[in-house]
Amino acid sequence: MNCCITGLQWGDEGKGKVVDILAEKSDIVVRYAGGANAGHTVVIGDKKFALHLMPSGAVRPDIFCVIANGLVVDPECLIEEIQMLADNGIDLQSRLMISENAHMVLDYHKREDQLREDSLGKNKIGTTIRGIGPCYADKIGRSYAIRMGDLNDLARLEKKLEKTTAYKNKLFGALYGAEPMDAAVIFKKCKIYAQKLGAFLGDTTEFLHTSIAEKKSVLFEGAQGALLDIDHGTFPFVTSSSASSLGMGPGCGVPAKMVDKFYGIIKAYTTRVGEGPFPSEQDNAIGNIIREKGNEFGTTTGRPRRCGWFDAVAVAYSAAIGSINEIALMHLDTLSGLDELKICKSYSIDGKETDFFPANSDKLSRANCTYETLETWNEDLTSVKVFEDLPQNAKDYIAAIEKLTKTPITIIGVGPKRNQTIFR
Ligand code: IMP
Repeated sequence: MNCCITGLQWGDEGKGKVVDILAEKSDIVVRYAGGANAGHTVVIGDKKFALHLMPSGAVRPDIFCVIANGLVVDPECLIEEIQMLADNGIDLQSRLMISENAHMVLDYHKREDQLREDSLGKNKIGTTIRGIGPCYADKIGRSYAIRMGDLNDLARLEKKLEKTTAYKNKLFGALYGAEPMDAAVIFKKCKIYAQKLGAFLGDTTEFLHTSIAEKKSVLFEGAQGALLDIDHGTFPFVTSSSASSLGMGPGCGVPAKMVDKFYGIIKAYTTRVGEGPFPSEQDNAIGNIIREKGNEFGTTTGRPRRCGWFDAVAVAYSAAIGSINEIALMHLDTLSGLDELKICKSYSIDGKETDFFPANSDKLSRANCTYETLETWNEDLTSVKVFEDLPQNAKDYIAAIEKLTKTPITIIGVGPKRNQTIFR
């Protein structure tokens, strides 16, 4: 069976844990979009792994890992991650393939991300400064793009880097008065990348089609969340890739019809990092309680996440565009003991009530939430193993989300560990 897992909010829904669990039944796990801006946390026993580029299935010893063409790969970060896993006894030598067609994040991309954000002041996007936007811009612009496969021909890459660095230096100097960067320094690093990553490069599209024909089970792992999708999210406060499940096909060359089940991951409340509209945000004591209880601080940047009530309008939209079959609801335990509990069921925008999410930041920033208030519960859920043992109010909360999002919830997370998961 082939499955695809994507976040249905603004990222950080807990995909890492769900991918790790579902990977047990898979042969191959594929990352198909984004880059080192992602932060997927997997907890195994007492160990906590924060992965940025490797698929979360990497922590299981028998799974083959694929980094597909849709990613922008920061080789430095990837090498560190492979080393970190090796230091923890997790070897990837014979079970990793990186697409030659994935694009490469280089020093000047990270530099540009920082320079641009600094120059924008209060109009900044609030990016992770991982060079994501600038690298995807080079991909779309084509003339100055560098791909992972360029590591296979270092002589040609050296020339490309000279041309590209000269162009970037002119640009950054004129726009930001930045010091020039040295192409030779970047090339020197590339020689190390070629040495350390060269053996992993390959045609991941061919590999995936061959594997699916051989009836291997493939798990496709999205990064970020549908509301950060470049085309369908809250533009311009989005990431630069197709972060919804719609990005799966272009991101790895496998069409959606080859996927048997699309899982959407949600948190029992809503969070967002960076700028942009967030109608159900609780910038108050409730938001602070959720942040502390849910440990809502970024895996990649450490930034405190903005927190708010569950937004069913947003999730119903993400489920609809993503053809989501089932939902995994994470962090239900975080809501235990709250004094009140609300779900946003519709928006009022310019005096009109709607339950369809507008993927338009201007419009969304004028949305006022209409809430449904639910009964709270005080019980600690972290050791609940079966659905029937959940407090009735928690069951009612789940039922309300299912009704509003028109999607069944089949997996429920009640803590960070693998065994703190309820399957229905
Ligand atoms: P970028 O992807 O670094 O360009 O950042 C663009 C926006 O996406 C910012 O608001 C980031 O905070 C947000 N973002 C990027 N990656 C993640 C993620 O993995 N989780 C949550 N937000 C993210």
